Amino acid sequence: MSLASLIQSVTIELDRQDGESLPLERRLAALLAPALTQPDLLAGINLRFDPKAYSVTLLHVAPEGRFSVCAIAWMPGQWSRVHDHRAWCALGVIDGEGAEEFFRLRAVVNQGGAADPIAEPMGGRALRPGMTSFAAPGPHGVHRIGNPGPRPMTSLHLYGCNLAECGTSVDHYFDA
Ligand SMILES: [Fe+2]
Repeated sequence: MSLASLIQSVTIELDRQDGESLPLERRLAALLAPALTQPDLLAGINLRFDPKAYSVTLLHVAPEGRFSVCAIAWMPGQWSRVHDHRAWCALGVIDGEGAEEFFRLRAVVNQGGAADPIAEPMGGRALRPGMTSFAAPGPHGVHRIGNPGPRPMTSLHLYGCNLAECGTSVDHYFDA
């Protein structure tokens, strides 16, 4: 599956109006899975691995910013911060050994009497090539992604927002 055919499949899935019961981000993750291990998926695209931080390459923004596709290049030991999302997301690993950690938010009252959300770890899992994950917008999709492995890792991400305009799908970052 090429990137163009993946984009077409995502568009068709977004257009479906047949009463699907599974959440959109879950359906998109399932759609993403078979594309991840296709050797031509990122043909002709040069990803940059940055020793300072993981590097995002924006690959596509759908008309009217309906969704965005990007690839992320991770050097060993690089992780995202703990975050939630302002839009749905689906992701999967193309190459390398990734990992995902899940968090739940707990309100802690600070010295000023206001409630600060604290992210508590809820476990994690390995993300090997071809494996996917997804998150809904809001407080129930708090996670972080990273590369704990010994070699570079590449992942592909779909977001339900216009990354060219907003730069990121992250809504909030949290201390873990
Ligand atoms: Fe995320």
